[in-house]
Amino acid sequence: MTTTQSTSPGPRTVQGADLPEDDPFLPRPAYVSEIRGETPGITTYRIEFADPDRAACYAYEPGQFNMLWMPGIGEVPISIASAPDEGPGILHTIRATGRVTNAMTSLKPKSPIGLRGPYGRGWPLKQAEGRDVLVVSGGLGLAPLRPVVLALLANRERYGKVILMHGARTPKDLLYDYEYESWSARGIETLITVDRGDAAWRGRVGVVPVLFNRVTIDPKRTLMMTCGPEVLMRFAVAEAIAREIPAGSIYYSLERNMHCAIGLCGHCQLGPDFVCKDGPVFDHSQTARFFSREHF
Ligand SMILES: Cc1cc2nc3c(=O)[nH]c(=O)nc-3n(C[C@H](O)[C@H](O)[C@H](O)COP(=O)(O)OP(=O)(O)OC[C@H]3O[C@@H](n4cnc5c(N)ncnc54)[C@H](O)[C@@H]3O)c2cc1C
Ligand code: FES
Repeated sequence: MTTTQSTSPGPRTVQGADLPEDDPFLPRPAYVSEIRGETPGITTYRIEFADPDRAACYAYEPGQFNMLWMPGIGEVPISIASAPDEGPGILHTIRATGRVTNAMTSLKPKSPIGLRGPYGRGWPLKQAEGRDVLVVSGGLGLAPLRPVVLALLANRERYGKVILMHGARTPKDLLYDYEYESWSARGIETLITVDRGDAAWRGRVGVVPVLFNRVTIDPKRTLMMTCGPEVLMRFAVAEAIAREIPAGSIYYSLERNMHCAIGLCGHCQLGPDFVCKDGPVFDHSQTARFFSREHF
């Protein structure tokens, strides 16, 4: 299910932002320029800076996130879902789940919003060069991995075999399903599954980790990147380890409650690390002792 609304440039200010210009907590004035309904409860917003100079110097890596500020309501960390060459603006795919993200469902083309970022350490695309890449996602976990898929496609010759395993609860919950065919045609082995099919579904039924049985993996060559519900990531990591992919070649993106996003407040602490600054992408050799059953 997709619905799209778009518009030309909107307001140049965000009401209520009266912090000094160099304050790291200052959300920069931005506006929504396009809205796409993705799946039930999930929407993609294209957000553009009001100031073209700021837009010109904004650069990010796949896997980083922004803090989006709804004036008068609050701020939330949201992954960047677009590739740098998909501008203008930055795509954010958001599930309405609580106070701020529910309020975002009232956004319209031209609505003002605040944006600060990008933050965090992204996916290891450089380390993946010359290797096979396994991308494993569930549900909304594909949002921070979409820029990875696009980067792998843009530089396809730099990587070996690339496999995407993605799953959702039902066919209607499959994020970016309108892109799978093109990804597959351009050299990504794309395996899709759902927990429960419907009358029209002709694809695979089952959970994502079962897809490991459908592919051939060379553990020495393979680097895995995974994002999704933590239970899915835990099983994906177990499958990878069972196939002898080294812990240092297994990367996942973690979510924790965040406030400052710059390593100051401690809200997102995970052992000795701050998820906002040292993550959200971690490799399993770094975080294995915290990525265990007791944390779910
Ligand atoms: C690095 C990072 C990247 C993220 N990327 C995205 C993204 O691309 N798209 C997206 O929709 N969301 C993303 N999130 C999650 C998003 O930030 C939360 O859903 C949001 O902060 C909830 O705020 P709220 O005010 O709407 O809900 P609240 O009113 O704060 O909470 C509503 C409910 O959601 C639960 N909740 C709050 N935060 C989280 C969380 N992080 N994970 C799971 N449950 C939570 C609460 O416990 C509560 O039950 C990301 C989080 C992090 C840390
Ligand atoms: S959110 Fe403040 S330290 Fe990470």
